[in-house]
Amino acid sequence: MVLSIGPKKIKCAVFISGTGSNLKSLIQFSKKKNSPISLELIVSDNLKAKGLKFGKIFKISSKAFNFKNKIIAEKKIIYEMKNKEIKLICLAGFMRILSKDFIKSFKGKILNIHPSLLPKYKGLNTHQRAISSREKYSGCTVHFVNTKLDSGKIILQKRVRVLNSDTAKSLAKKILIQEHKLYPKAIRKVFSR
Ligand code: GRF
Repeated sequence: MVLSIGPKKIKCAVFISGTGSNLKSLIQFSKKKNSPISLELIVSDNLKAKGLKFGKIFKISSKAFNFKNKIIAEKKIIYEMKNKEIKLICLAGFMRILSKDFIKSFKGKILNIHPSLLPKYKGLNTHQRAISSREKYSGCTVHFVNTKLDSGKIILQKRVRVLNSDTAKSLAKKILIQEHKLYPKAIRKVFSR
């Protein structure tokens, strides 16, 4: 699906829980003149997420929400996103499962990056599972988010060779480098100018 957009950039929020290296690559992508997105908001479920530092460095509004009560957290996030006229959500290492209502209210406007070649290895510990299953290839996938975990329509994938010598850590590192290229490419694929 290619959505044609006008001269205005799509206002985007990135949701993170940890390091935020994908967030950083999306910020850099958004700053390119011909990028279809502008990054207006960083959302975290964790006040201590390292990636929040990129909000400060790049002067992007960032907020952490307490997910002990998911319904309240999501209500607050929706309020924040309405204020900023957010039209696209990019999940990037966001470790919470959003509620069905939240996902439905942003139908077709939430993307996620997952460190496996979906539909293989949904969920957690993808790298160790790929190694234990003696996969020759693993990789990463950018997909639309629907109400089932890691199951929405696939936009793009990138294969990465799994070597006999690979550990979960070394494989994660190789795949992460590809993730940083794949997410911007997938956004370009969905939003043409
Ligand atoms: C990435 O591997 C992403 O695919 C997964 O969590 C990791 C997040 O890394 N969902 P980072 O926070 O973007 O560095």
